[in-house]
Amino acid sequence: MIYSKIAGIGSFVPEKVLTNEELCNIVDTSDEWITSRTGIKERRIAEKGLTTSDIAAAAAKKALDISGLKPEDIELILVGTITPDMIFPSTACIVQDKLGLKNAAAFDISAGCSGFIYSLSVADSFIKSGKYKNILVIGADLLSRITDYEDRSTCVLFGDGGGAAVLTANIQNNRGILSTHMHSKGGHDDILMLKAGGSLMPASLESVNGREHYIKMKGSELFRYAVNYLKDIAQEAIDFNGLKPEDIDLFVPHQANVRIIEATAKKLKFPMERVFVNVEKYGNTSSGSIPIALDEAYKSGRIKENDIVLIDAIGAGLTWASSIIRW
Ligand code: UT7
Repeated sequence: MIYSKIAGIGSFVPEKVLTNEELCNIVDTSDEWITSRTGIKERRIAEKGLTTSDIAAAAAKKALDISGLKPEDIELILVGTITPDMIFPSTACIVQDKLGLKNAAAFDISAGCSGFIYSLSVADSFIKSGKYKNILVIGADLLSRITDYEDRSTCVLFGDGGGAAVLTANIQNNRGILSTHMHSKGGHDDILMLKAGGSLMPASLESVNGREHYIKMKGSELFRYAVNYLKDIAQEAIDFNGLKPEDIDLFVPHQANVRIIEATAKKLKFPMERVFVNVEKYGNTSSGSIPIALDEAYKSGRIKENDIVLIDAIGAGLTWASSIIRW
């Protein structure tokens, strides 16, 4: 049996912090509303000129250094993102150039906030099939670039950041990804989308004036889907592996809203002491959310070798996904 082991992990967030208090000077909101409805206290915002590939490459460099692999060992680069540097070429190809990963194939995966777990799942399949041994998986987004800072219902939620994991084939023991699970449900563009800039609505004066190059979201509808689907996909992973919730050492859920995290944990009968939360520091970083949280959980000692870790996420599409990893 071949397992995809996490040989290295890293993350990177921009330096600039945007606090709830500062947002109150931009839109009609309050620290009390944002904190009680979302758990978010601050988020990071990329300075002008910083790109998704910069963040992805910085996180990937840390993961690569920890893995002990050389740049030429990487055979595939996957970047989960919905904020690529440009529509094409892919951000994965730009990261390849920035890090000198000359032997790798590279492509992006668009799955909203599920982008990192979708990418992890694709990478795991390539490793299990024997096609590749060393794969760089990245989740990175600069949501501030597509956030409407005149829309208080969305702009308080999002932040910038990314993380990366180096996966390597392991035949020595059973450490690595135990399973991945993915679902999609098209036809929900109205709940979460960015309408303009593609073939449906190319950039025009009207699209800019109509603020169509920004995220549009129906928050409370998405909230209901999130709680149910995240519970279902976590349960699917637990059942698939013949585990019980108490066998999971740490649950690292998508960091969108602490109320969603708490409601999902409650439905799974999971104590919050075994749930990792850092949404208060970064808000929702989309594909960056899970790898940033995993990196922080690992580096702070919340994840130790051989621990069983559950991750899950939901995002635009809709897409939702989960994985269980023996670290
Ligand atoms: O990663 C996947 C992507 N996103 C998500 O998972 C987000 C899912 N949704 C959510 O997290 C929540 O639905 C939100 C945090 C977005 C909103 O919380 P809510 O409890 O569902 O609030 P709501 O949208 O029902 O709005 C309640 C009220 C409204 O006022 P009225 O109509 O009741 O008078 C809003 O206008 O809160 C108002 N409101 C605000 N007030 C102050 C909305 N945004 C703000 C704001 N500050 N920033």
